[in-house]
Amino acid sequence: MTTPKTPVADAGGGASGTTVAAVAHPAAEAFAAAYPVRPVPATGPVETSPIATTPAALEELDPLWRAVVHETRTRGNDIHLPISLAFAERLCRAYPDADAELVRVATLLHDTGWAHVDESRIISEGFAGDWRKAAIRYEHEKQGCEVARRVLPGLGYSPEFVERVCDIIDGHDTRPVAHSLEDALMRDADRLWRFDQAGIALASSWFGMDPATYTDRLAAEIVPELITQAAHDMAVADLARSTALLKTAVIR
Ligand SMILES: [Fe+2]
Ligand SMILES: [Fe+2]
Repeated sequence: MTTPKTPVADAGGGASGTTVAAVAHPAAEAFAAAYPVRPVPATGPVETSPIATTPAALEELDPLWRAVVHETRTRGNDIHLPISLAFAERLCRAYPDADAELVRVATLLHDTGWAHVDESRIISEGFAGDWRKAAIRYEHEKQGCEVARRVLPGLGYSPEFVERVCDIIDGHDTRPVAHSLEDALMRDADRLWRFDQAGIALASSWFGMDPATYTDRLAAEIVPELITQAAHDMAVADLARSTALLKTAVIR
């Protein structure tokens, strides 16, 4: 048996109730040991209503939004990031043990790096072929960390907090396993927006897919990647609503 190049433990979920296999990175091992059951069961309330009913409400992040307006104007970030943040806040209510501020700030900033890479390569490389391993994916993660290090200190965030944010941003698309509960919640929030109608409309065009093909792919590939049970429940509820609304059973 050959040794895989990357940890195979779990990009996210695995079947309900399964136990996570051994992983290589110490942080990933610690997370897997602390949360051995996947999807990770929720310990707080799980809200599965349309995300528009619970927008990200806390105004304390408004200065951070204002600091990255430029970065929101690339790759639909001004749609993707606010919706992802709303899901992140929901997930933090379902997992009250998580550091909610860390999850919220990391989610808000995670894709700001797209504004600092070659825009012409975003769709051609970032959403085609083996897109998870495209060089531009690594670049947008590195650039996102640079944005975090540029904007957060002036808003009063400590150097230690900034580096924890960067630990989550760096690898959020390309690293196969989560390193902490906060990392896992950011990853799930990043995926959940795709199940909302706005996410389907935007992301299906990025991948060059019609809505039926795209939502089929969400069900087959993205739902099994979700790390937490709360995210799984939100995704399934949203997918049922979105596919019914868009009549994907007929228009295919
Ligand atoms: Fe990303
Ligand atoms: Fe994202």
